[in-house]
Amino acid sequence: MADIQNGNSCSSSPLELFERVTAQGEKVRSLKAGKASTDEIDAAVKLLLSLKVTYKTATGQDYKAGSPPVDFSPVSNNGPTTTQDEDFVDPWTVQTSNAKGVDYDKLIVRFGSSKIDKELINRIERVTGKTPHHFLRRGIFFSHRDMNQILDAYENKKHFYLYTGRGPSSEAMHLGHLIPFIFTKWLQEIFNVPLVIQLTDDEKYLWKDLTIDKAYEYAIENAKDIIACGFDINKTFIFSDLDYLGMSSGYYKNVVKVQKHVTFNQVKGIFGFTDSDCIGKINFPAIQAAPSFSSSFPQIFKDKKDIQCLIPCAIDQDPYFRMTRDVAPRIGYLKPALLHSVFFPALQGAQTKMSASDPNSSIFLTDTPKQIKTKINKHAFSGGKDTIEEHRKYGGNCEVDVSYMYLTFFLEDDDKLEQMKQAYTSGALLTGELKKVLIETLQPLIAAHQQRRKQITDEMVKQFMTPRKLAFDF
Ligand code: TYM
Repeated sequence: MADIQNGNSCSSSPLELFERVTAQGEKVRSLKAGKASTDEIDAAVKLLLSLKVTYKTATGQDYKAGSPPVDFSPVSNNGPTTTQDEDFVDPWTVQTSNAKGVDYDKLIVRFGSSKIDKELINRIERVTGKTPHHFLRRGIFFSHRDMNQILDAYENKKHFYLYTGRGPSSEAMHLGHLIPFIFTKWLQEIFNVPLVIQLTDDEKYLWKDLTIDKAYEYAIENAKDIIACGFDINKTFIFSDLDYLGMSSGYYKNVVKVQKHVTFNQVKGIFGFTDSDCIGKINFPAIQAAPSFSSSFPQIFKDKKDIQCLIPCAIDQDPYFRMTRDVAPRIGYLKPALLHSVFFPALQGAQTKMSASDPNSSIFLTDTPKQIKTKINKHAFSGGKDTIEEHRKYGGNCEVDVSYMYLTFFLEDDDKLEQMKQAYTSGALLTGELKKVLIETLQPLIAAHQQRRKQITDEMVKQFMTPRKLAFDF
């Protein structure tokens, strides 16, 4: 305690230090609001400053309200720079002032994750004997935590499982939502492992202006889109929180364990909650954390508590899993591993991600061929020049061109993509022509998705969502 009073908390973990700075900051605010004596306020401010210095020494980062230490481990001595501060990424908002999009290399440093480099991609290829997915080859999945541990497990014939999810905030999902599911399906196929998919209808009820029944209805509709990605019914369990939490004591016990080991200050720091947020929100991170532990699914893993989990998602979900990884060893569980993707940009440009709450920013899986064409022609931000003459002379800029960016996600042919890039950059290919290639790539892709979705019956959804043993023996 004496150490804390002096602000000299060298033996504390970065997260504990972060909590103390946050708490001390609050104390200063409340002393000021309560018109405490100048001496009292000065002493509290002094302690706050000294705690901030201790925090910086321990983590190499300046204390920043709402941004807890990344992965709770010290990073290099480079504190956040102005450029880093311009990128804002959390589970609800992605915003940057840079037309090329978020600076993902800096995000890796800030979040304390690891880059998916050539060496790791080669290892995935070596271990599985499969050509790496173009999402890996093109850096769309760009960051990871402990993926080498998963590959070690796989090489040693030890089990692991996949966990991903969706927050059903609307009936229709957009193209960006497909990214983690397409990749998860590929992972399931190459590694042949169980997969659990969480539908956080509770989260969307808490955060959005939705009734409970509507959120659940969206969960079922979204399950159809997810199933239409082609997941194997014998290897996949999809669950709605509103259903499964009440059915599984294994799951609920893990939620409670997480709740006991994370303080209000921690979630305030990680997620930016305030005193006026409802308590449902404050509790929710524990509900998204618990599926990372195999004992939440006794019907699949029996009594095994040590089956490692791998979570593919876009990097906006990382705050949940930084918290999960911090808690895991303290409740006797393995830390989940992660694979992070970049964001599929909004039509208007890579300053923000495609988001279901802004219909003009998104191409939905329910859009007709005509809507796709109109949206791309009308809204897709172009890196081309203002006039044909200028474009022919100077060429277009693929780094900010949304149509080109979308092609990197969905045009699988590497040679054709390179051809497009060269032709656009040299000015030989015009914006309208590039958009046409994109339209012709997306129209059949979305039509095929809609066809597959039509085949999904209520009975199939029910089967996917029934807690049951999967095609694996544990
Ligand atoms: P949600 O519904 O916001 O997003 C579902 C998944 O899609 C990813 N995502 C995107 N990926 C690329 N580009 C985009 N523009 C884009 N927008 C969303 C998200 O990262 C996510 O992987 N709370 C979560 C649901 C959830 C979850 C999970 C997600 C529960 N458990 C475990 C991943 C892993 C949510 O609301 O996701």
